[in-house]
Amino acid sequence: MNDTNEMLLEFESKSQNESFARTVVAAFAAQLDPTIEELADIKTAVSEAVTNSIIHGYTDYVGKIQMKCCICKDEIRVEIRDFGVGIDNIEKAMEPLYTTRPELERSGMGFSFMEAFMDHLDVESKVGEGTLVRMTKKVGKPNRLKEYTQEASQQVSS
Ligand SMILES: Nc1ncnc2c1ncn2[C@@H]1O[C@H](COP(=O)(O)OP(=O)(O)OP(=O)(O)O)[C@@H](O)[C@H]1O
Ligand SMILES: [Mg+2]
Repeated sequence: MNDTNEMLLEFESKSQNESFARTVVAAFAAQLDPTIEELADIKTAVSEAVTNSIIHGYTDYVGKIQMKCCICKDEIRVEIRDFGVGIDNIEKAMEPLYTTRPELERSGMGFSFMEAFMDHLDVESKVGEGTLVRMTKKVGKPNRLKEYTQEASQQVSS
């Protein structure tokens, strides 16, 4: 059985495309039969990554953002890429509450949310070349089935 599926979307770094990207990822992820909570998590993580590209990657101009999504068995992999200013210290940027734009009332929690809502987060960036955010999350029925089975066997053995 072919249980992989991939899509690639490119859009401009305009604020209205944040909700566009959320809607697209939700529609794509729907084929995994996610719970409402899982879907909300994925949409929030994508929103944070796309917003970062819009406001930090391309501060003074409109550039291109790519969103690549891949479903592989019970997992969704999402990549958000921009070709903007890049990040010089990724470790620092990923610290909770760290922001370079306090004047815009940013709270510095975007990467923390991505980490919390997805299973795995990886950030690659080069100053002057752009940023690539990779996230993965297991979703849907096989995942829930596994949890139920684990819970049931724990109950039996306790
Ligand atoms: N795509 C990007 N291009 C350039 N810099 C980025 C990018 N994404 C994040 N950063 C840098 O990393 C910092 C931390 O990002 P994070 O999303 O955690 O917080 P924030 O965007 O500042 O605030 P919040 O997401 O809470 O509104 C940003 O302030 C910015 O300096
Ligand atoms: Mg952010």
